Amino acid sequence: MCSFRKGLLATMLACAAIAVPAQAADFAGIGRAATPKELAAWDIDVRPDFKGLPAGSGSVAKGQAVWEAKCASCHGIFGDSNEVFNPLVGGTTPADVKSGRVARLNDPAYPGRTTLMKASTVSTLWDYINRAMPWAQPKTLTVEEVYGVTAFLLNLGGVLPDDFVLSDRNIAEVQKLMPNRHGMTTQHALWPGKEFGGTARPDVSGSSCMKNCDSERKVASSLPAHARNAHGNLAEQNRLVGAQRGIQTAAVAAKGETAGGSAQPSTVALLQQHSCTACHAVNGPLIGPSFKAVADKYKGRADAAAYLGEKIKTGGSGVWGAVPMPPQNLPEADLKAIAHWLAKGLPNQATN
Ligand code: HEC
Ligand code: HEC
Repeated sequence: MCSFRKGLLATMLACAAIAVPAQAADFAGIGRAATPKELAAWDIDVRPDFKGLPAGSGSVAKGQAVWEAKCASCHGIFGDSNEVFNPLVGGTTPADVKSGRVARLNDPAYPGRTTLMKASTVSTLWDYINRAMPWAQPKTLTVEEVYGVTAFLLNLGGVLPDDFVLSDRNIAEVQKLMPNRHGMTTQHALWPGKEFGGTARPDVSGSSCMKNCDSERKVASSLPAHARNAHGNLAEQNRLVGAQRGIQTAAVAAKGETAGGSAQPSTVALLQQHSCTACHAVNGPLIGPSFKAVADKYKGRADAAAYLGEKIKTGGSGVWGAVPMPPQNLPEADLKAIAHWLAKGLPNQATN
């Protein structure tokens, strides 16, 4: 197994060497393996245990020069500006440095929460500045500049003395001075935590798929009953594109409301379900002729049902005018039901 966390170039080289043939086999002709240098450029995180922290050092004095040149324009000379972002410095006391808890975090009267009030780990401060600042030129600082400017911020906050030189060798000691080092807790869960009457459950719970997982997944697209008619009849709101149809939500909702109602949708519901009603009304002309007019026209014809069924299926124009009816794609049973209903002169028809 490859562990990039070991942070050793040798490890990365070994991993890269192993990765090349695997990648080539899986994605032949696509891309190439990342080079060790590319991996190193991405692998910059500094952990609270200081894994990943590059060796080096920087003085408060050096940091002040960096600060004034590259940071103060946004964060203020003393890191206390509220113009561009929350103040980075302020709100911590020598007592906090001793206790490791920032007392003012519990003071609702205190006007803000600065970075130094909140940051529990100096590694995070170092890492953030290294990867993200200055705002418009991230990753341009040298290792010495990051050490220096981190030291300078802690100096502004009264944590480190003026002559301090922060380095990879003493940063663990500096961690012991972070004003809010004991302010981090992993005991709480998503808000509200236990102290507010919450359950303190973790953010995520994967238990249901950790064991006895369903081995079969059913992919379906359907509307749950409670949501069916939430926004009116979907069938009437769909633009017709070929055989594409919106589901007829109104009729189903109505069906659900009628206790003991027929499970067989009425012909009018079928006309809606298959969006015939986008072009046809029962009693008056729309884009196509009214169903009443169609029924009257074929009243005496023995093969009316067969003819109409075929016509609905294949579409066509010229009987009622120049506007064509597109071929209608609907289940044979529904097609027959509609054709018979028309041929029989619209029995049990709705009145509009
Ligand atoms: C052009 C404006 C600008 C400059 C210059 C700039 N910053 Fe920032 N800085 C920001 C903004 C904006 C944020 C908030 C970013 C965010 O939350 O996404 C920020 C956030 C930060 C934070 C994190 C604060 C927190 O509590 O999350 C630190 C630390 C910081 N900057 C340090 C520096 C340092 C050190 C420099 C100089 C090397 C610098 N910044 C230069 C604009 C700037
Ligand atoms: C895009 C509009 C449109 C849609 C949707 C539509 N029709 Fe039509 N329909 C027409 C037009 C236009 C005509 C007239 C065609 C003609 O003159 O031949 C017509 C004609 C008809 C006729 C009479 C045919 C004849 O020969 O006299 C029937 C029956 C009919 N449609 C049933 C349906 C049914 C059932 C549906 C739903 C499955 C449906 N239509 C969907 C536009 C439409």
